[in-house]
Amino acid sequence: MPAVIFVIKVLITIILVLMAITITNAQVLRLDAHFYNDSCPQAEDIIRETLINSIARDPKVPPRILRMFFHDCFIRGCDASILLDSTRENKTEKDGPPNISVRAFYVIDNAKAKLEMACPRTVSCADIVAIAARDVVALSGGPHWHVLKGRKDGRVSNANETVNLPAPTFNLTQLINSFSQKGLGINDLVALSGGHTVGFSHCSSFESRISNFSPQNNIDPSMDMEFAKDLIKNKCPKTNQVHDNNAGQFLDSTPSTFDNVYYKQVKAAKGLFGSDQTLYGDFRTKRMVDSYADDQNLFFRDFASSMVKLGNVGVKENRGEVRLNCRFVN
Ligand code: HEM
Repeated sequence: MPAVIFVIKVLITIILVLMAITITNAQVLRLDAHFYNDSCPQAEDIIRETLINSIARDPKVPPRILRMFFHDCFIRGCDASILLDSTRENKTEKDGPPNISVRAFYVIDNAKAKLEMACPRTVSCADIVAIAARDVVALSGGPHWHVLKGRKDGRVSNANETVNLPAPTFNLTQLINSFSQKGLGINDLVALSGGHTVGFSHCSSFESRISNFSPQNNIDPSMDMEFAKDLIKNKCPKTNQVHDNNAGQFLDSTPSTFDNVYYKQVKAAKGLFGSDQTLYGDFRTKRMVDSYADDQNLFFRDFASSMVKLGNVGVKENRGEVRLNCRFVN
């Protein structure tokens, strides 16, 4: 008899454990490549078509969207907090200093408006940004990957939190710390820095490298001297100690093509930011820069997998909402 009671007790315990596992799994939803297969099968087509139309009118859209995704994920996770407009009471991330130069929010608005018509209240703004970031890379000649979906949109956005974005003056240790706080490793840092294969920078972002760099050196000695002179003379010339606010330099010599030229430039001491050049100045990352400069396919593979990781940072699967308009909380 005691044996029968023992067996019953064991069975009950097993059933309880299985129930607990089921409940936990139901609560912790996972991002899923097929998330909209039933609820909005045309979602990715709509986003892609919106991007193709926008890029035809403005070729600056791809780098802007790619940077938007990175800045969204680094502050409060990939929750579209970067898309919220400031109100009288609250200055949002969009208006934080590093994000003033993030543009092309209208492209996400256009995609969202079309998605709301096709499948109301279904596709989150955070997923739109993640899908769009993948598409702009692929449309610029870069790799394609499956975007995991199911992110919810956050309801909070504070301009002062943008101080947590990495700065172009960061050294390697600062960059590594910044990425590790988001669960990203050194390999992700080097691969994702390759995002600087497209786009443009204003002079203010690299000015400290080309004038008054240090008491000993006016120009950052880790920068190629001819490259520096060209920046000073032709790209960021000053009239009465100030330069044109719109002046600047492309991040690599093929700024509309997603390729591995960025790493070749870093190897040649022509990385624009200190944060780019430092990747080749330290044994912890130098070999990876060499590999990506030598092998574009390797860079593409690693970039794609690091973008999937970036897209998982701080996601809200069931703690947020699906915004009706990406600029406002519901
Ligand atoms: C590693 C740390 C990083 C730092 C310090 C950094 C810093 C910067 C700075 C200062 C600019 C120029 C802003 C301006 O003056 O207009 C810029 C542009 C850009 N960044 Fe980064 N970035 C980093 C990582 C990334 C990552 C991970 C990505 C994407 C995967 C990315 C994508 C871009 C793109 C595409 C642009 C060009 C934007 C445009 O043309 O409008 N960056 N970044």
